[in-house]
Amino acid sequence: DTAAYEAAFDAAVAAEERIEPRDWMPDAYRATLVRQIAQHAHSEIIGMQPEANWITRAPSLRRKAILMAKVQDEAGHGLYLYSAAETLGTGRDELLDKLHSGRQKYSSIFNYPTLTWADVGAIGWLVDGAAITNQVPLCRCSYGPYARAMVRICKEESFHQRQGYELLLALSRGTEAQHAMAQDAVDRWWWPSLMMFGPPDAESPHSARSMAWKIKRHSNDELRQRFVDICVPQAESLGLTLPDPDLRWNEERGHHDFGPIDWTEFQEVLSGNGPCNDQRINQRRRAHEEGAWVREAAAAYAAKHGKATA
Ligand code: ACO
Repeated sequence: DTAAYEAAFDAAVAAEERIEPRDWMPDAYRATLVRQIAQHAHSEIIGMQPEANWITRAPSLRRKAILMAKVQDEAGHGLYLYSAAETLGTGRDELLDKLHSGRQKYSSIFNYPTLTWADVGAIGWLVDGAAITNQVPLCRCSYGPYARAMVRICKEESFHQRQGYELLLALSRGTEAQHAMAQDAVDRWWWPSLMMFGPPDAESPHSARSMAWKIKRHSNDELRQRFVDICVPQAESLGLTLPDPDLRWNEERGHHDFGPIDWTEFQEVLSGNGPCNDQRINQRRRAHEEGAWVREAAAAYAAKHGKATA
């Protein structure tokens, strides 16, 4: 009976055991995981767009090869995550359909434009840095397939973060114009990166439940604070400043204080009014339509192959 199943599920979560696809789980737990994993998967594949914008204009063969590998990694991350969602009984077609029709979200951060080459560095350093801060605790998520996907994703994200940092360092130590370009990119990406962690705890409807289920291990504000504390010394080593006059070390708290986040901007981006929302979703729909022949060919091949071995 359900009560016994529920008790076994609660005990497993309390004992830090992993919940696996065939285990009984509450419907709301499953729905929350599908929501979060789908949004995460969509973010990975939409996230390919802003950086892919610079592949043809990378300043050297080395930079181009690195950027291509990175964008390809993001596609791979999307695939691990769609596979994790499939273990919950949700098909990839269904999830993509929800993304394309605006019924599921992707991260706010990918609705900002990449105006200069330095943006590739700022995305690596700040956006991938924020992603790692958020995702390392997800390696301990109570749902096994999601936690395991995160281990590999975090390793690759660490490489992405390093390449962004190294790119910005080269620009920061370059000519005056290159330094200014790096600073401008950091100025534009800093605040949107802080928004990636989601609304403040008091306005985060899902946090308490997800933390009790050990899907989330830390609150949005905790992770945002951790990220700020990590970035301050890194910005110093880069020779760049963070665009926040209120940013200062608070001895008492043992953390950096920082200025207020513009949550109106965040809400605007979430409701479709960010600088690139239309462009991103239209490009995604177009890529899906243009890839129809690949899906058909793969299905035809699988059908033929299945018959041959039957
Ligand atoms: N962009 C878009 N939507 C967001 C964002 C954001 N930065 N932050 C929160 N939201 C949405 C939530 O999805 C939720 O929407 P919904 O109810 O329609 O599903 C709503 O805002 C309320 O937020 P929370 O209650 O805080 O939601 P949640 O507990 O899911 O926490 C968080 C949000 C922290 C993003 C969580 O889902 C998470 O850790 N996800 C996995 C990481 C991820 O998706 N990363 C993607 C970007 S990193 C990358 O791809 C490189």
